[in-house]
Amino acid sequence: MSMSGQLVDGSGRSVEYLRLSVTDRCNLSCAYCRPVTDVRKPNPCDMLSLKDMLRLVRVFARLGIRKIRVTGGEPLTRKGIINFIEQVARTEGIERVALTTNGILMRSMSASLVSAGVKNVNISLDTMSRDKYARLTGRQGLGDVMRGIKAALRAGFESVKINMVAIRGVNSDEVMKFARLSTGINAQIRFIELMPASGDYWNEDKFIPASEIKRNITPLGPLLRVESRPWSGPAEVYRLEGAKGELGFISAMSRHFCGACNRMRLTSGGKLLTCLFGGTALDIGQMIRSGADDEDIASAVLPALLEKNSSHGGANGDSALKPRMIGVGG
Ligand code: 5AD
Repeated sequence: MSMSGQLVDGSGRSVEYLRLSVTDRCNLSCAYCRPVTDVRKPNPCDMLSLKDMLRLVRVFARLGIRKIRVTGGEPLTRKGIINFIEQVARTEGIERVALTTNGILMRSMSASLVSAGVKNVNISLDTMSRDKYARLTGRQGLGDVMRGIKAALRAGFESVKINMVAIRGVNSDEVMKFARLSTGINAQIRFIELMPASGDYWNEDKFIPASEIKRNITPLGPLLRVESRPWSGPAEVYRLEGAKGELGFISAMSRHFCGACNRMRLTSGGKLLTCLFGGTALDIGQMIRSGADDEDIASAVLPALLEKNSSHGGANGDSALKPRMIGVGG
């Protein structure tokens, strides 16, 4: 086909990374992510079939996408997900398949995910207190996630990362405990700045800049900088002396990394988002429903990409541009 090439956006950034949300459904309901008003179950008819998603993965791969991260909702709740991932990993042009999950189902699925071709897994864990976990996520699930993380560490992924969204007054008292976790396990503990998602959970009091977290963990010893590796994301990565694991800091708000943004997102309904904070969305789901072929879809992607935001407005930006996290999986 004639569409092979490299995707370059309107600011000259080359885009080779697609975050693919395979479902809006989640077996958790985290305070910073859940839509406040829209509690209805997403209509499954809005959701693309995995077959259509695979078709889109092939189109994107031919356009120049080389890395896919499977997200949700909770991606592991989608029926047929293992088989789907296996096919994504086998797609010509796709060199890297990663997964973001809340870990609830990782205990039983880790081994099959490795066999299916997932190389990197990010597991959300915002607190290590049972009660707090239940309050924050709406589910008594800490034990499941901890067992899920253990299984993931043994399963043979190239990397396991643990995502901790730091929230003042909620889990800020656990920052040291999370940082210490990096000494004993071969995982990267990532502190993520709270972003204003849908609803009005975010406020300045809850927000903790990455610089403050770094300062707070200085009693644990010097942070040794880790050089960035191929496929590594926007995190600044460090290691405590002698630690098995690493510490990552994602300052999406305080020092946005839009200049190096190499990604797009596809919602489970087939909307292509070129920026987490909004901008134009190309409705590929609609195109599919009205019979578009692969060439039609491919030729609609580039114009959408040319309008990709050069940088997001962040907390001060238009509130209409707040990311709908449940739909895009971070
Ligand atoms: N702020 C920061 N990160 C978020 N995520 C979801 N919602 C938010 C938010 N409001 C990210 C977290 C989580 C992943 C699934 O998405 O890192 O682990």
